[in-house]
Amino acid sequence: MSMVSRFAASVAFWTAAVSAVLVAVASLRFLALGVSASMDFVAHNLDGNALMLYAHIGVAPIALALMPFQFMTRLRARRPKLHRWLGRGYVAAVLVSGLAGLQLAFHTTAGIFAATGFALLAVLWMITTGIALVFALQRNIPRHRAWMLRSAALTFAAVTLRVYLGSSMAAGLDFQTAYPLIAWLCWLPNAVFMEVYLLVRPKSSRLVSAAA
Ligand code: HEM
Repeated sequence: MSMVSRFAASVAFWTAAVSAVLVAVASLRFLALGVSASMDFVAHNLDGNALMLYAHIGVAPIALALMPFQFMTRLRARRPKLHRWLGRGYVAAVLVSGLAGLQLAFHTTAGIFAATGFALLAVLWMITTGIALVFALQRNIPRHRAWMLRSAALTFAAVTLRVYLGSSMAAGLDFQTAYPLIAWLCWLPNAVFMEVYLLVRPKSSRLVSAAA
């Protein structure tokens, strides 16, 4: 890798890592403010579907916050046990919040197109993470890495969703129109980007070894 591409990879990694942790922390605002005051468009779930709502909004931020640490090469090399424990936490958080997210998808007030986008995301999130776990248990590290990168690209939908939502509001787009599209746009380009990266990366390159 040239100096310039190492620098670009480093900037990309740290931008993604910091935004993931910031969105995770900001998502826990409901603990201080309550759901109705801080995320009113999911507050209808409080009536009869509160367990699933809290399982999702309380646990998904843990997966998002843990994710960047798992790709830090030096941390992984120096503290392999920590990598395994954080990995277990990530997989458990994806399973719990993914199942809850799947159920919440069917309760969205944004319509069937949005529900399908979120539901497919939830299913793919759990499948990619599950496959990555199986490869870790088999000590097949190249495949474990590739599937965890796929999982991470989907976890990052939590960040891209908020970026697109903010941008669409700033652009004055109608929320009712923008939100269902964003339910797909928040993850589909991320997934495609990761597939392309996995196809074109030089065999010797390591996305974040250059960065972390
Ligand atoms: C990647 C798989 C994910 C799926 C399938 C998913 C699905 C959903 C669904 C269906 C809703 C309700 C939306 C509505 O009723 O219109 C929701 C809301 C929410 N999700 Fe997720 N989610 C995922 C990942 C995450 C992650 C990683 C976080 C971590 C921050 C997160 C945090 C939240 C929060 C805080 C809300 C409440 C509304 C808001 O503040 O935007 N989700 N999610």
